Amino acid sequence: MPEPRKIIIDTDPGQDDAVAILLALGSAELEIIGITAVAGNVPLKLTEKNARKICELAGRPDIKVYAGAIRPLVRELVTAEEVHGKTGLNGPDLPEPKMKLQEQYAVDYLVETLMREEAGTITLCPLGPLTNIALAMIREPRIASRIKEIVLMGGGFFEGGNVTPSAEFNIYVDPHAADVVFRSGVPIVMMPLDVTHKALTTTKRTEAFRKLGTKVGLATAQMLEFFERYDEGKYGTDGGPLHDPCVIAYLLKPELFQGRHCNVTVETSSELTMGMTVIDWWGVTKRPKNATVMRDIDHDGFFALLVERLGRL
Ligand code: RIB
Ligand code: CA
Repeated sequence: MPEPRKIIIDTDPGQDDAVAILLALGSAELEIIGITAVAGNVPLKLTEKNARKICELAGRPDIKVYAGAIRPLVRELVTAEEVHGKTGLNGPDLPEPKMKLQEQYAVDYLVETLMREEAGTITLCPLGPLTNIALAMIREPRIASRIKEIVLMGGGFFEGGNVTPSAEFNIYVDPHAADVVFRSGVPIVMMPLDVTHKALTTTKRTEAFRKLGTKVGLATAQMLEFFERYDEGKYGTDGGPLHDPCVIAYLLKPELFQGRHCNVTVETSSELTMGMTVIDWWGVTKRPKNATVMRDIDHDGFFALLVERLGRL
């Protein structure tokens, strides 16, 4: 087995973030060297606690969790309790975490780690608003050339938005941070709503987690049953889109996804389309191609991978 790929997950748990973290913890191909929490689905004091709860659920209290930005760069924080519940992790009744939160501020941790580790060996996996990543890039611009790749969940184009008609939540919450990241020159793989909306947690798929007969399997089924109800009501579908695990699944089995390299530019001026990711899918502008945008997924293969890997925890 080759050396595991070193990743830092930047996250705002969030049930779908939680499943992404579990997928990474169940996969020996990956080494989570740190988890950085950011304000997003719920405020930071909850997202950092939820990240620790999930590590303990997976039996991994050794994972280092850092707290980062308490709010976006410019705009006021917008949260999504209507989707994720008051705790951000409604569904299972997970105990208060015993593992400690790291003292170091997440942005300092990102800068220090990326400047210390060999260039090109760390992959960043942002699953929430990009505030921490942008702050690190602004604080130490040299990190951009040292990041191996950024694989992120965020944005949308053909699918429109999920928090406004044109903007997806992660980008909408902090469009200025997203603008910094998409202009950074770091190789980016983007999982927008166009692909995550094809990864629905149907009843059958949720049952497969419960049938694992493990603590992790049960908690995952309970998280998904809570999390999907909002989108089922909104879209009239059986199940809701399982956004964030697409990031980790890509690292494990990129062949599950199809997309193309194109330009992505973030709207940061108009209130009407604030946070929109304008994806030049047809290459009609001369804007530099700055992201590989995924639009298709083998969703059966995706859920098979999820069940198999979570079954290892
Ligand atoms: O729009 C979906 C994204 O917003 C996901 O990352 C979800 O966890 C929320 O952060
Ligand atoms: Ca998230």
